[in-house]
Amino acid sequence: MNDISDRLNRPDLDAFWMPFTANRQFKADPRLLVSAKGVHYRTEDGREVIDGAAGLWCVNAGHGRAEIATAVSQQLLTLDYAPSFQMSHPLVFDLATELAKLAPAGLDRVFFTNSGSESVDTALKIALAYHRAKGQGQRTRLIGREKGYHGVGFGGISVGGLVNNRRAFLTLPGAEHLGHTVDLGRNAFSKGQPLQGAERADDLERLVALHGAETIAAVIVEPVAGSAGVLPPPVGYLERLRELCTKHGILLIFDEVITGFGRLGAPFAAQYFGVTPDIMTTAKGLTNGAFPMGAVFAHRDIHDALMHGPQNAIEFFHGYTYSGHPAACAAALATLEIYRREGLLTRAAELSPVWEAAVHDLRDCPHVIDIRNLGMMAAIELAPRHEAAGTRGYEAMVGALKAGAMVRFTGDTLAFSPPLIITPEQIEELFAIVRSVLAQIA
Ligand SMILES: Cc1ncc(COP(=O)(O)O)c(C=O)c1O
Repeated sequence: MNDISDRLNRPDLDAFWMPFTANRQFKADPRLLVSAKGVHYRTEDGREVIDGAAGLWCVNAGHGRAEIATAVSQQLLTLDYAPSFQMSHPLVFDLATELAKLAPAGLDRVFFTNSGSESVDTALKIALAYHRAKGQGQRTRLIGREKGYHGVGFGGISVGGLVNNRRAFLTLPGAEHLGHTVDLGRNAFSKGQPLQGAERADDLERLVALHGAETIAAVIVEPVAGSAGVLPPPVGYLERLRELCTKHGILLIFDEVITGFGRLGAPFAAQYFGVTPDIMTTAKGLTNGAFPMGAVFAHRDIHDALMHGPQNAIEFFHGYTYSGHPAACAAALATLEIYRREGLLTRAAELSPVWEAAVHDLRDCPHVIDIRNLGMMAAIELAPRHEAAGTRGYEAMVGALKAGAMVRFTGDTLAFSPPLIITPEQIEELFAIVRSVLAQIA
């Protein structure tokens, strides 16, 4: 241990192998958060930093919500665990009922998981099982999109479109990709949805022509790509994709792990865009990040198609030990109650004009080549340094943390998605910090 570690009473950092982290770089200069309240984290050296990322796109109601903590602790003392296979407990039915009320029309059958990755793999399996039940078992191809992120399961990386998540691993045969929608030439600095590019959805026709629609089970996209650096869909793109999927009997899956639970100003992106998928994956904001949980919403017709065979047949051979864990259900129900009481599932609609203006105000900062936003999501893309892509993004993230703001970075793109309780003044404060940091980056 060095002097700083001693002074801060740091834990030994060696044993923990950190996920999606440059471990050696981190451990040479750790960034440890020790508490959080509202829109602020506190760092190990006692500084308050504004949370510009809602943790990891998940703490939509802000940190330290006592109602959630109380609900979880009471639940653990009442019923800590109930088997999820062939047994259950009342809370999970209540939660599914509440979620079904929030969901887009028809998507009222809910399967529980423990993460976004599990939700994605579950949704892909539901799609395959559905086609098989309908006598179309040859529909096995799964189509994602370049730059898509669907978690880290083998299903998710197969349909995912971020090369670093794929190149070291095997991917599923039959996974294909639509082209991405990024087009800085036509759309840089768009406010909200870019105007150009709806025709990119026609890429599905290319895959249909190549493989035959009758071999394709599902298309999965994030309504707004998050991890690739906040990519709102061009106006008309999702509508066109919906049309093509319907035309070809292909299921459309929206991965709403980030966009779900109010991020855009409606409970789900499906409602925001007025485009209803057949299946929707969620996690993150479902429990305000306080407890691991995911939920897959399937259209009732998809669910019903699987409810056949003898009464004692298990209709869908899939599930997790912790599907619908009682404490997770308690956390989710308490979270939904906060969202309802505080109007947080629609608050982004009121806040987003302030948000949009504040982020686009940074257009003239050094190195900025694009700014994108939708709802309470935004990204600032910086020009990469020659032969050192990603270093500007990393330095901006570290600089911002030192200056009092936690932001996400992927490559040279800074991404923002604050808790939905953020105030206009705090939005100004966040971007003032980012402005000052960008001014210092070489
Ligand atoms: C759209 C999307 N899908 C899936 C995931 C994976 O979620 P998890 O990390 O909970 O497995 C994420 C995580 O950021 C995501 O953004």
